[in-house]
Amino acid sequence: MNTKIWLSSPHMGGNELKYIHEAFEENWVAPLGPNVNGFENDLEQFLGENAKVAALSAGTAALHLSLIECGVQHNDEVICQSMTFSASANPIAYCGAIPVFIDSEPDTWNMCPKALREAIEDRIQKGKKPKAIIVVHLYGMPAKMDEITAIAEEFQIPVIEDAAEALGSTYKGQACGTFGRFGILSFNGNKIITTSGGGALVCHTQEDKDKAVFLSTQARDNAPHYQHSHIGFNYRMSNIVAGIGRGQMEVLKDRVDARRAMHDFYVDIFKNIDGVTVFTEPNSDFYSNHWLSAIIVDPEVTGKNREDLRLTFLEDNIESRPLWKPMHLQPVFESAPYYGGNISEKLFDNGLCLPSGSNLSDDDRERIKKVIYTYFGI
Ligand SMILES: Cc1ncc(COP(=O)(O)O)c(C=O)c1O
Repeated sequence: MNTKIWLSSPHMGGNELKYIHEAFEENWVAPLGPNVNGFENDLEQFLGENAKVAALSAGTAALHLSLIECGVQHNDEVICQSMTFSASANPIAYCGAIPVFIDSEPDTWNMCPKALREAIEDRIQKGKKPKAIIVVHLYGMPAKMDEITAIAEEFQIPVIEDAAEALGSTYKGQACGTFGRFGILSFNGNKIITTSGGGALVCHTQEDKDKAVFLSTQARDNAPHYQHSHIGFNYRMSNIVAGIGRGQMEVLKDRVDARRAMHDFYVDIFKNIDGVTVFTEPNSDFYSNHWLSAIIVDPEVTGKNREDLRLTFLEDNIESRPLWKPMHLQPVFESAPYYGGNISEKLFDNGLCLPSGSNLSDDDRERIKKVIYTYFGI
């Protein structure tokens, strides 16, 4: 059996262990310490736009805290992009709130501004103004932030940007994760940089960051004994994990370049195959980190389908994966309101994510190319 080619696997830079050793030498083996502060600083420098970053145990934790800081409570409604990973929507349920799902638009596969407006107007008419809007930058592709932000401002609803997959992506030159009232990042094992597991909340005021740190460390009041006036969480990032993050930040730019080169590799392969489109930026306002390269296979033109291609890859021990199944089609969210048409559903039916790691070798690329050419009869 050939060695496994993963969709996206961890790619260490080399200095991660140095930071971990420092933590051991100084006995900062705790959910605070120089690596946590250093990692937050590195992220703030990278993101710019007055970003104030709180390092947390997961991107999901960051989303949960962002909803709490936006004042989301039991029975409130929160708007969320439907085409995403379940972790974008689950924290809405953690708050006892109700997700209202929005379809994608075809250029970026992200939240459709038209359906967003329709949803807000309809929810207000039905008696409830949504408390927040969760927009996702899918696979690293920036959403149409100008249009979404304008609608959010018109209705005075805070935007939470799920930039879990989009560290290193920009829209009109500004880093994804810095547009909304809050942004969230993920450093899960499959992301463009990883801390094995981890996340961050991107804020714009020291007050919002301080509140996130307070809530993520069990909400201890300022007293010599343990005193609590709020429900807290154990969501802070460990100083060991943050050491991995500091090492990874040193190579982030290289990782973005390598992922973008993988995208170009697929563009080159598929340029001669009619009916297959590679997910690409609509224009130069959008700069994707291309965390995952993805394609749409049109069965009518190709006479093929994405599932057979996935199985053909698997025969050669190559991992590929259907696009995210939209949340409004998930059994767990079947009663949630939904606005839009069938764009995200069609993307799910015909879309496939391809191996995109920054650590793939020329031999790996040859194997991938061979499977594609054989499958499409080239
Ligand atoms: C779009 C999206 N949102 C949220 C998350 C959650 O991040 P984490 O796994 O760090 O909790 C992920 C990744 O896992 C994701 O891809």
